[in-house]
This record gives sequence, structure tokens and C-alpha cells, in this order.
Amino acid sequence: MNVLVTGGAGYIGSHAAIELMAAGHDVTILDNFSNSSPGVVAAMSRIAERDVPCVEGDVQNADVLDAVFETGDFDAVMHFAALKAVAESVAEPVRYYRNNVGGTACLLDRMARHRVTTIVFSSSATVYGEPERMPITEDFPVAPVNPYGRTKLMVEQMLADIYAAEPGWRISILRYFNPVGAHPSGEIGEDPIGTPDNLLPYIGQVAVGRRKRLEVFGNDYATPDGTCIRDYVHVVDIARGHVQALDFLTPCPRLAIHNLGTGRGYSVLEVVRAFENASRNPLPFQFAARRPGDIPVSYADPTRAQTQLGWTAYYDLSRMCEDHWRWQSQHPLGFSQQENCGSRRSQ
Ligand code: NAD
Ligand code: UFG
Repeated sequence: MNVLVTGGAGYIGSHAAIELMAAGHDVTILDNFSNSSPGVVAAMSRIAERDVPCVEGDVQNADVLDAVFETGDFDAVMHFAALKAVAESVAEPVRYYRNNVGGTACLLDRMARHRVTTIVFSSSATVYGEPERMPITEDFPVAPVNPYGRTKLMVEQMLADIYAAEPGWRISILRYFNPVGAHPSGEIGEDPIGTPDNLLPYIGQVAVGRRKRLEVFGNDYATPDGTCIRDYVHVVDIARGHVQALDFLTPCPRLAIHNLGTGRGYSVLEVVRAFENASRNPLPFQFAARRPGDIPVSYADPTRAQTQLGWTAYYDLSRMCEDHWRWQSQHPLGFSQQENCGSRRSQ
């Protein structure tokens, strides 16, 4: 298939594009580089050993999308492009609704116009809010507790409404739990701009000497060691899930929702220990106050993805940390000071 990957220079989109190419698909990246670097695309070309076409542009811009669809002859879209920082979404909600919801509405409108009606959408476990029990199945109530989560839910609802109106669409909604790790080559990985919000990128920057110590947010939760538990899942496993979701859409039109998680939770302290093993160095940390909005425990029931997509997370926590460490130690400053995109076209 010929797949347009929006946000394809970002953390998960870049890994998904690599797996798509490995499975024999063609990809074109559309990214405005608001949270990524053109250097990622050059690194992707090295991994895939082929040119990775890349258009610099915004999914909110209908003219850009028209130009892309007119030249591309695409079979499907994988839609990763979004803003994703929870605290920022609380401070700047309109920016989030505009980019994530408005951008997706614009994309869906132009897809329909160009008769591209297959989409895989990046949703998040954050749509479940604060569930009453674990593990989380896809039929749990949805009740996100911040604007970022609400943008994800609104897009899910928009997709459901489209499917109700036009049942010829093929729609896959993937709710990721906590994607971590990096490509085993060490060429691409998570490269947040500014101070990382998430645990693994923060740990990586402490381990490489860019930050003094990790603050562990809360050690008085009702968990075995008092720190929060999450379902960390290797980004390459997440990426493979996208290829399998696309395969699942191929035989017939449908709208499907799948959790992508391992089904197993780890505490913050377990992650710290696993990273110390991977980097063979102690990781300085101190306990700090709870972070507002954190839930004590979150992990997936991935049964539906296993039975319907044939997807299972393959990599364990030690491999997630080893791959993250390889990427981080080879790129202590990320892509910020690196090369430009080889085949980049500006729109
Ligand atoms: P990321 O920020 O690394 O990647 C997103 C990419 O989209 C970036 O390259 C950014 O420049 C681009 N982008 C943003 N707005 C755009 C726009 N309007 N037009 C064009 N490009 C735009 O984030 P990620 O971690 O790779 O996340 C990818 C998707 O997965 C997002 O939709 C995110 O909400 C979702 N998600 C991420 C996580 C996570 O923990 N990383 C968890 C659940 C869901
Ligand atoms: N944590 C720390 N110190 C840090 C960063 C995080 O102790 O510096 C802790 C958090 O308190 C939490 C755990 O590490 O207990 C994981 O935190 P992350 O921020 O890495 O992940 P979250 O589960 O809070 O949220 C992430 C994304 C959300 C997404 C959700 C589910 O940030 O956008 O996973 O996919 F919705």
C-alpha cells in the first residue's frame, strides 16, 4: 500500500514508517516539525536503505493536503500528527483543540475529497481517565481528565460519526499505553523538545548527564513500592501493531478499537532499576510530591489486539531500556544539532 504518515518524523510515527516499509509498503511523511527534526527523516532513510519522501506541512492546511493527495495516490493514512503534552494542554487548551481536533477534521475532509477512506488513528489510554479496576478493556467507560485526552476522545467520536454516516470507511483506533524504547539501530528514538514530561526520556537525559537527577513523583501510592504502575510497551511493538491494524482493515470496511499494551505493569522504581541495569550505572533520583492528575495504576488488557490483529508485545522492560539507552547514549543531544532531511519538499 501507499501510506501517508502524518507526524511521521515524530517518535512513534517514525518507527511505524520503518515497520511499514519493512512490510513492503511505501510511505510519505507529512510533518510540520513542531515537535521533531528533519534529521529524523535522514536517519529513517539510513535504516530503511531507501529514500523516505517527506513533505513539510501542517495537517490544518487544506491546500497542503490537497497538493499531497493530488500527487500521492494514497491507499491509507496513518495519523500521528498531534500535540501530546498533558500539562501544556491544560495551559493552552485552544491550541490543542485546534491542532488535534481541527487538524484531524481538516485531514478527514480532504481524505474524503480525494477518496482515501482508510485511516489508522493514534489514540491513547488517557481516554479511559481514572478506571475503577484493572486491566483496562476497550469497552471500559471513556472519561478523559485533561484537554489532551479530550482531543483524543473527540477525534474517536468524529471517526465513529463518519463511519455511521459512510460505512465504507476503514477505521482503526489504537489506544496506546506507555510507548518507550527506541529502534534497535540506535538511529531514531524519542527526542522531546525542552524538558521531557515522560519518565523514560527524563531518565535517559539523567543517565547521559544532561539532567542532575530524576524526581520520582510520589512514593505513597497504594502499590507494592509506593510508586505508580504503568504498562510500558516497546515503540517497535507499537509500530508493528500499526502494520497489523492496516492488514486488519484490508478485507472489509470496519471501525475497530484496540488497546496496545503488554498487559503487565511496572512501577517507577522498577523502571529505574531496569534502566540502571541497561546503562550499567546508578541513576540518581529523589522522591518528590505526587504529580497532579497521575493515577496509581494503569495497564491494558491486550486480548482483543491479540485475537483480532494477531498482535502481541514482544519486547520486555529490559529490552525497552537497553534500546532507549543505545539511542540516548549515541545521541546525547537528540537530533537538535544534526543533519537536514534529504528529500524534503516544502509546502
Ligand atoms: P511526537 O510529538 O514525537 O510526534 C508527533 C509529530 O506530529 C511530530 O513530529 C510533530 O512535529 C507532528 N505534528 C504535530 N502537529 C502537527 C500538525 N498540525 N501538522 C503536521 N505535523 C504535526 O509524538 P509521538 O509520541 O510520536 O505521538 C504520536 C501520536 O501518538 C500522537 O497523536 C500522540 O497523541 C499519540 N500518543 C502518544 C503517546 C506517547 O506516550 N508518546 C501515548 C498515546 C498516544
Ligand atoms: N514520572 C516520574 N518522574 C518524571 C516523569 C514521570 O516519577 O519525571 C512518573 C509519573 O508520575 C508516572 C510514571 O512516571 O507515575 C509515568 O509517567 P509518564 O509521564 O511517562 O506517563 P503517563 O502514564 O503519565 O502518561 C503517558 C502520556 C500520556 C498518555 C498516557 C497513556 O504522557 O499522554 O501515557 O498512554 F495518555
